[in-house]
Amino acid sequence: MVPILEMKNIVKQFPGVLANDNVNLIVEKGSIHALMGENGAGKSTLMNILYGLYAPSSGQILFSGEEIRIASPKHAIEHGIGMVHQHFMLIPALSVIENVILGKPDNKKVLELKNDAEAFVALGARYNMKIDPYALVSDLTVGQQQRVEILKAIYRGAELLILDEPTAVLTPQEVTELFKIMNQLKEEGKTIIFISHKLKEVFAICDTITVLRLGRSQSSVPSASTNSEELAEMMVGRKCFLDVDKGPYKPGEIVLKMEHVFTKGTHGALSDISLEIKKGEILGIAGVDGNGQDALIDSITGLCKVSDGKIFIKGNDMTNSSPRDVLEQKVSHIPADRHKRGMVSTMSVKENMILISYYKKPFSSGGFLNWKYIEKNAEEIVESFNVKTPGIEEVIGKLSGGNQQKVVLGRELSRDPDFVIAAHPVRGLDIGATEYVHETLVAERDRGGAVLLVSTELDEVLTLADRIAVMYEGRIMGILDKEDYDVTRIGMMMAGQNK
Ligand SMILES: Nc1ncnc2c1ncn2[C@@H]1O[C@H](COP(=O)(O)OP(=O)(O)OP(=O)(O)O)[C@@H](O)[C@H]1O
Ligand SMILES: [Mg+2]
Repeated sequence: MVPILEMKNIVKQFPGVLANDNVNLIVEKGSIHALMGENGAGKSTLMNILYGLYAPSSGQILFSGEEIRIASPKHAIEHGIGMVHQHFMLIPALSVIENVILGKPDNKKVLELKNDAEAFVALGARYNMKIDPYALVSDLTVGQQQRVEILKAIYRGAELLILDEPTAVLTPQEVTELFKIMNQLKEEGKTIIFISHKLKEVFAICDTITVLRLGRSQSSVPSASTNSEELAEMMVGRKCFLDVDKGPYKPGEIVLKMEHVFTKGTHGALSDISLEIKKGEILGIAGVDGNGQDALIDSITGLCKVSDGKIFIKGNDMTNSSPRDVLEQKVSHIPADRHKRGMVSTMSVKENMILISYYKKPFSSGGFLNWKYIEKNAEEIVESFNVKTPGIEEVIGKLSGGNQQKVVLGRELSRDPDFVIAAHPVRGLDIGATEYVHETLVAERDRGGAVLLVSTELDEVLTLADRIAVMYEGRIMGILDKEDYDVTRIGMMMAGQNK
């Protein structure tokens, strides 16, 4: 059978970066095909070429056996290629249906939304998705936005659907839902290219796996004929330890103390939170996303108001302090949403490295920035965190998703913190970088730092945390010591039950 897609000898040269270096990719019709590889390996670039967002420097694309040229996403859509991007592209101020018909070729001067809305709802029902076509995109959860993106692509007639790291921002339950939809699409004969860093997911859903490494295609293998270790080695080029080594648990003085903390707000408001984190300890917060984890972090870092209760850091009352005063307590914060709170996309890598400390010695003195020191510091972080960038002058928005995350991590962990707040620190990171971040957090703990780890990946919390607090609807359902770790029990607590 002729494959639905053949990409041959694709080359993409960006200024200073050879992102795709003679990549070959063959995808069979009706299959789910995984594209894997380290951060910056060239996965998104290859898919952006296929979707007409970038022109390849050279190479050929065959679709159902015929050579095609894809000069724009419009062309791609006409050929039946749809894409859901790593960072979503919906317009928040418009409604769902307005987003769906945006750019449709046959739109009239006065939009008639009713027919499209009805057809869209019917299409959603076919995939068991309930969607209000008139809801504003800004009111939807990330998972809902993603479903809208997928449906939008299908609504426009996609036969081949590209999903660029769709699970990075989803809860485990949403991942299960997404996999159901993907399998249904496959049964209908549609083809899916699926990008993910998570080995488990790839083995659960994909038929074939292609690995990219340093811009080149390594190999394509049926997923049934390989295993995690082999795949990890193919991606990283060395053996990986899929486990973390930790020193003995020796908790010291209390670093963070929360006493009966309440916050107000519409969703995820905190209700009577009391907890402690000691020196030399990682406290993990487990819970389904949206159960108050954001409010918990915001209340500590001064980003939201505490309406009742007290928060102490190293014995100082920091309740309702300003974010800067909190950071001055040698607190590092790796935020959940790096685009909103972790970086400024249009600034360079080196400027992003000083967002927190620019006003302090040795980064500046007498009101002037000390560029020599700033540059040396930036070079060091790029080196030790293995950030793939042509240099520290590069605009951070041009780095691959995982490498942007590494810049934020490097900045925060190199500030010699006493207390690290890490929200989903490895979201979007490849396995090599994940290993590095986990080792770094454990090293912080081993040298006497206190770490608050918030993650929706239960596996990550179970491996790293010395104690686990489970959150549900803004409350703590219970705090477990290591000897009491039990996946089923934690799962029940995450769903609001505690016996
Ligand atoms: N618009 C651009 N301008 C300049 N360089 C770019 C641009 N887009 C990507 N690059 C570079 O090309 C390389 C490949 O990036 P790409 O986004 O394809 O990686 P990726 O495999 O998707 O990584 P990740 O897993 O982190 O998402 C990176 O080194 C990146 O810095
Ligand atoms: Mg990418």
